[in-house]
Order: sequence, then C-alpha cells, then structure tokens
Amino acid sequence: MAGLLTGKHVVLGVTGSIACYKALDLASKLVQAGALVDTIMSYGATQFVTPLAFRSITHRAVVTDSFDADSEYSVEHVALAQQADVVVVAPATVHCIAKLALGLADDPLTTTIVAAKAPLVVAPAMDGNMYDHPATQVNLATLKDRGVVIAGPGTGRLASGLTGVGRLLETPELLGYITYAMGKDGDLAGRTVVVSAGGTMEPIDPVRVITNHSSGKMGYALAEAARDRGANVVLVTAPTNLLDPALVKVVQVRTAEQMGEAVRLHAKDADALIMAAAVADYRPAVEAKQKIKKNDDDLNIRLAKTEDILKTVKGDFVRVGFAAESENLIENSKAKVGGKNLDLIAANDITAEGSGFGSDTNKVTLIGRDLSVEELPLLTKYEVGNRILDRVKTLFRD
Ligand code: CTP
Repeated sequence: MAGLLTGKHVVLGVTGSIACYKALDLASKLVQAGALVDTIMSYGATQFVTPLAFRSITHRAVVTDSFDADSEYSVEHVALAQQADVVVVAPATVHCIAKLALGLADDPLTTTIVAAKAPLVVAPAMDGNMYDHPATQVNLATLKDRGVVIAGPGTGRLASGLTGVGRLLETPELLGYITYAMGKDGDLAGRTVVVSAGGTMEPIDPVRVITNHSSGKMGYALAEAARDRGANVVLVTAPTNLLDPALVKVVQVRTAEQMGEAVRLHAKDADALIMAAAVADYRPAVEAKQKIKKNDDDLNIRLAKTEDILKTVKGDFVRVGFAAESENLIENSKAKVGGKNLDLIAANDITAEGSGFGSDTNKVTLIGRDLSVEELPLLTKYEVGNRILDRVKTLFRD
C-alpha cells in the first residue's frame, strides 16, 4: 500500500482520548509509507500527547486548538483542506463525532474538515457505553450516509479496564481503511475480485499436515491492491501469519478441497478470479483417525491427486493463475496458460533473488492468453498486484 500513499497529503486529526498515543504510531507508519502528514490536534488531545511528539515524527508543523494570535493556522487552514488527499480523525471522540455530524466548525480540525473535499476517515475511540449511546449511533450513521468511512471501533480491553467495543483500531487496520477511502471510487469500483492465498494444509493424521512454504503475502497484497482501487474483494485463504486485510471479505480454509468449495461459491459472482494460493497437488489418500505411532523405520503415506481448482472452476470471469517454477519458467508457464484456460498467468521464478517465499518483493513475468510475454522488474508484492490488476482491467467480460 506504500505506493498509494507516496507523496500524498494526509491531514491527521487527533482528538482527546487516551488512544492518542496510538495516533503517533499511525503518523509514523504514514510517514514511512511516503505520506506528508499534517497533524491537527484538539485541545483535549494535547493533554494526552504533546504536539512536539507529532512534529518529531512528521517533521511538519502541528496545528493545535490554541487560538494563538501568532499562529500561521488562520492562513494555512484552507490550504491544508485544499491540498489534503485524505483526512483521518484517529482517535475520534464522541464529542468530535457529534460535531462532525452537525457540521460544526469551531476549532481548527472541524474547520478543516468542513472546508475539505477529500475522503474522510473517522476512527472512533471511546468507552463502550458512550459508543452504544443512541446519539453516538445516530451521529455515526449520519456520517456514514454522507460517505464518511467509519473505521472501527474494535472490541477488546478498554482504558476503563472493562472489555467491550470502543477500542481504536490498530495501525495496520487503520492504514487499510485510509487507502480504501482514497481508492474507493477507483477504476475497479463495482467489480468483484476473488483472490486465493496461502499454502493449503492436507492432514495426515490429527497432528500432522502436508503443506508448503507459501507465506500468503502475494495473495494478501493483491487483495489489498484490488480493495484500494474500489473492488469488492473476497480473499479465500489457507492459514497464514498475516492479519486480515481491512474491508476485505476473508474466507479461511485449510485444505485444497475446502479452498475449491469456497472459490467455486464466490467466483460465481466475480468479475475476476486470481489464484495466488499454493494449492497442494496431492493429499494423503486417507487421513488417519488417530496419531500415527512411530513403529517401523519407514513410513509410506499414499497420496491422492487433488482437484485442480483453477482448471475446473466454471464461470465467465477473468482467470488469472500464478506459476511457481524453479526451472524453465517461461516454457512451463506458457503450458499452464493453455492447460488451465487462463487469461493471464504470473510466472514466478521462486529461485530468483527477492522473489522467494515470505519476501515482500516479487519478480514475475506476465504471460497472456496469446502467450505474449511482459517481464516486470523486481517490485513490491503490492505493486506486482497492481500490475496484474492493470491487465485484468482490460480483460473484463463486460
Ligand atoms: N492451482 C489450483 N489447484 C491446484 C493446483 C494449482 O487451482 N490443485 C492453481 C494455483 O493456484 C496457480 C496455478 O494453478 O494459480 C498453477 O499452480 P502451480 O503449482 O504453479 O502449478 P500446478 O498446476 O500445480 O503444476 P506443477 O505443480 O506441476 O507445476
């Protein structure tokens, strides 16, 4: 998602909640992703965290609610609103949410928001009872109706010590909401894209599985890239260590058979299916009911072929595969285009530098149905995802 934020102006509004400390992490990650972050703090926020902390992270001036006669804010606030690519309020208090719902503009942050045309993300953080209050619910619904992206709140331990709904979302989720908000009217708006990810796990007995080294990163990055261009995304994933991408429908599966079922179900309504998963080609023919004991020197496990999901899934959507190859990359991948009736295949040399399992980058060669070859440079997996989506976009059936 870094690509989407590079050089973008983010106005980060911070209002008075103990969750303000998390906004520092968000500011830091936004800056790391290349964004120019202008922070506007409410008076309450400055009681929890100092403006200096945000200035140190963003390397930019921080606007506060000080009504300081010397402040440059009065001249800058319209400029901040105008240049904003996205406005994010994190954390957003009950009071701030109420002001936004009414369109009030009585401090630098709310004034900027009323003046801005950029997408607005509001990330509530509050006590559970305050969140449940009918006025808060109505205010959030009002903002949602107006096209504001409401991020969270999450459920968990609250500052009060109670457990409930009201937590500020964690930074990775907030970043997902922000890039979603920036791209929701993008070139894939209205399209449904199904992506598969991860390495399937085929049970040998109740303890052991056959699996592979797939980290799931390529599929997850693809799902995020499609989401950030406005697509509805269904991510059918085998187990990974990755966080569920925000605003993506995540369907968890384990085996090739389960993945096949889920892909067939969701691909029915899809405009494109992109199989980035490393699906087991063979599974143990019989799953032992009890743990296999260590007896003989050798143990033979008979394997049975799994169904090829991509080859057999029916429907009129754009079909994209990945070919994981350790030799004869182009030749083997070309054979898969015809063999699996694909519109596009991303040929992946798993031995190439920067392309291994678990890496954040990938070097792929795209091969079309006509066997034309486009070699991409080493890119982040998110950027590879975007290049694949650029091609997919030209292949939609309607
Ligand atoms: N695939 C699938 N179902 C399977 C195996 C693979 O849908 N049972 C999909 C993968 O998700 C990928 C493409 O087919 O998009 C190619 O997978 P790959 O493992 O490279 O090729 P295989 O067809 O399994 O052939 P081989 O293992 O012999 O290279």
